[in-house]
Amino acid sequence: MEDNWTQREASSPFAVVLLAAGKGTRMKSSLPKVMHSLGGQPMVSHILRTVETMSPDRIVVVIGPEMEDVAAAVAPHVTVVQTEQLGTGHAVIQARSALNDFKGDIVVLFADTPLITADTILALLSACANENSTSVAVLGFRLEDPTGYGRLFYDVNGELEKIIEDQDATESEREITLCNSGAMVFKSGVLFGLLDNIGNDNAKGEYYLTDVVAHVRVNGGKCSVLEADVRELQGINSRSDLAQAEAIMQTRLRERALAGGVTLLDPSTTWMCVDTRLGRDVVVGPNVFFGPGVVIGDAVEIRAFCHLEGVCVAAGAIIGPFARLRPGARVGEGARIGNFVEIKSADVESGAKVNHLAYIGDARVGKDANIGAGTITCNYDGFSKHHTDIGSGAFIGSNAALVAPVSIGDRAIVGAGSVVTEDVEDDALVVARADQKSLRGGASRWRKRHLTDQS
Ligand code: UD1
Ligand code: MG
Repeated sequence: MEDNWTQREASSPFAVVLLAAGKGTRMKSSLPKVMHSLGGQPMVSHILRTVETMSPDRIVVVIGPEMEDVAAAVAPHVTVVQTEQLGTGHAVIQARSALNDFKGDIVVLFADTPLITADTILALLSACANENSTSVAVLGFRLEDPTGYGRLFYDVNGELEKIIEDQDATESEREITLCNSGAMVFKSGVLFGLLDNIGNDNAKGEYYLTDVVAHVRVNGGKCSVLEADVRELQGINSRSDLAQAEAIMQTRLRERALAGGVTLLDPSTTWMCVDTRLGRDVVVGPNVFFGPGVVIGDAVEIRAFCHLEGVCVAAGAIIGPFARLRPGARVGEGARIGNFVEIKSADVESGAKVNHLAYIGDARVGKDANIGAGTITCNYDGFSKHHTDIGSGAFIGSNAALVAPVSIGDRAIVGAGSVVTEDVEDDALVVARADQKSLRGGASRWRKRHLTDQS
């Protein structure tokens, strides 16, 4: 199945200007808006990834001052800095020097509209290219409650005449439900000439990119409109918008997993990242969270309420319920990780079992080893982390504390409740705990003494 990340081709040269300089005031955040995460990746990375699949001839990202994190997220693409956020039109002007010598159509996209697909951008490019008289193509969508969006205003002949921003619209103009998505294509050579003509005499005192439409029309030109699905074009301005966009993203990721041969027992409760990779015949129970960097092999069963990030699980393993696999956990073929087990930076080799209430961190658990309930690798001494090595076929009794650095040999047995501070040889049986003491009749004597004390 083709997804949004499959390579696409455009027929003629084009460049992309991606606007990401806005402060995102409505997010009420110290993070730039486009760095907020969607499907486990910054918003800006999403749209860039989509754009990259189309192999444009150039990509220019407009960022704000002191947005080093955004520049790093979009590297190695060219960035230009808009020193003052004077509006979307002003932002596009900042890309002029980077595109001066560029001959081809220019696509303007907003980084706060990250759900747009490559197919839709390609369709917009075609809408502009296919009509000789068209110099700008605008991507629109319909919304029952269009509050906040610019509205596409048609003349009596049904041609796009202008875009009216929400704050500048009259009561009747606000009734228009056809919205501007922000994505536009400009025919080769027209963009910067148009932008030279826009002013900032409007409700926000900003240079609106949307004003180019009226300029094109006044000069006898034509603007085409392509309508697309709102689920691709919702802008993200607030936390509420972000939550809605995340819901759309999660639906897409679940559909991709299902189409790829994964069973999700309760799809609406599976949370995934864009880079989550699930093999064939994987079965995911209800309420499972896949953070970034998870790769799951074929026929793995992940039972309910597991939390995984930065993890690689090989074929046929069974995880959970209620397991937490943290970054650097690698689980081998057919291994079992059971309830209330936490694994971090550790290799649990094939066939090994860590079935109940254990912490395995900075460790290797050898092939077919069995780790008893409550076992802890004591990996941290308050200053540094240390490694625990557990050999193949070793048996660690319940409630053992393995104080790292320590190594347990192949096929060794560690008695329950042991605190192991020294290396254990292959095939050795070790018990490291106080000897048991038994007093015959002691229990009766104990009770008698207490009853006497109370009387
Ligand atoms: C904008 C459109 C509106 C459209 C909506 C779609 C304008 C004037 N308005 O409104 O018609 O319906 O998007 O979501 O174009 N940005 C900069 N520099 C700036 C200002 C913004 O780079 O000075 C960037 C932002 O980072 C963002 C994008 O441009 O990625 C859009 O800016 P935003 O302030 O979100 O515009 P909207 O109010 O959503
Ligand atoms: Mg916006």
